[in-house]
Amino acid sequence: MTVNGVAVAFSVNGVAHRLEVGPGETLLRTLRERLRLTGTKDGCVEGECGACTVLVDDRPVDSCILLTAALEGRQVRTVEGLSGDGALGPLQQAFIDHGSVQCGFCTPGFLMTLTALLEENPSPSSFEVREALDGNICRCTGYRQIIEAVAAVTAESTRP
Ligand code: FES
Ligand code: FES
Repeated sequence: MTVNGVAVAFSVNGVAHRLEVGPGETLLRTLRERLRLTGTKDGCVEGECGACTVLVDDRPVDSCILLTAALEGRQVRTVEGLSGDGALGPLQQAFIDHGSVQCGFCTPGFLMTLTALLEENPSPSSFEVREALDGNICRCTGYRQIIEAVAAVTAESTRP
């Protein structure tokens, strides 16, 4: 602990960081304002909308209500980590192909929640997808296109 805050070491998308953070600094603020990873969106900023969802040790969390000081040794993944070598990941591409992105504000949060789901359960039922998305709000799509994008990805991955 220093006068200004606490030093915390953690990784984001596989890159190691060591930062000094204040006691009230949220992971959302650290990502957007200090690491310039602005793919993670700030919506309600009170843990209700899911726009700020990232993965911490493979579990989806609302980064707007998680203190960065609690992340010592943890592994964070954000939407920026889903694409590589300039190519979108399969779930990102499926969102585009199925019209699952309209205003796009909710999209990073949906992608991270669904990434965690598919890593744990590569063939979720429609009910399991809807259940996983309980904490993510989309005001544009009506959710149907998002469910269809997940179905397309799972069908692709299970094709013989
Ligand atoms: S911005 Fe974090 S849940 Fe809405
Ligand atoms: S695409 Fe606009 S809120 Fe979901």
